[in-house]
Amino acid sequence: MKRTRPIVAIDGPAGAGKSTVARSLADALGFVLVDTGALYRCVALAAKQAGAAYDDGARVGQIAGALVARGAIRFAADGIWLDGRDVSADIRTPDVAMGASTVSAHPDVRAALLDMQRHAGREGGVVLEGRDIGTVVFPEAEVKFFLTAPAEVRASRRHEELVAKGDAPSYADTLADVVRRDAQDMGRAVAPLKQADDAVLVDSSSMDASAVVASMAAAVRERM
Ligand code: DC
Repeated sequence: MKRTRPIVAIDGPAGAGKSTVARSLADALGFVLVDTGALYRCVALAAKQAGAAYDDGARVGQIAGALVARGAIRFAADGIWLDGRDVSADIRTPDVAMGASTVSAHPDVRAALLDMQRHAGREGGVVLEGRDIGTVVFPEAEVKFFLTAPAEVRASRRHEELVAKGDAPSYADTLADVVRRDAQDMGRAVAPLKQADDAVLVDSSSMDASAVVASMAAAVRERM
């Protein structure tokens, strides 16, 4: 399908600043933002609420399929809703983050969420952020970025966020979480996190967020 406005894929590891950058880029371009990690987080939260272990692939796969079938996950202007409840804060805890990484390795979970993501982006004029947008969900995306930064930089950002929220994890624990999540996300058999061949590599540690967004917006406008 020829789109009048492009699909922009932003992939990269946890804590690279994808959410902030994707939000600002979507605003700058007037595009819709789809945070695909939130979908995996909703599956993890639903599994937790159902008492299912994150690594029980068959059960979590069923839960994901049922969520999609009944349209339980909804992106609203004011946040993310699961079964009629605003779960925007509940899906951002460290436990659900690690759970999302674990549930996202199950093929049935990925299959359940794939059509939703393709449906959300197919008309273009959209920024999708995740791990496999440029490689699996939209390999034909017109513009792809791979946003990353060294693990230590990502961990210290994440640590600052958690401390600002009132949590008190140690920096060492936060770094260990980042390293473990990288290993899970890059090491899984299905749709592992990796840079697409045609993605532009952006290291967010060397520029401030507004400079990163400005250079990405310029790259997208060149294609429009
Ligand atoms: O971007 P995030 O931290 O909200 O994502 C949470 C987890 O979901 C991440 O550790 C891996 C998984 N994920 C994925 O496998 N594929 C995506 N497109 C997005 C997220």
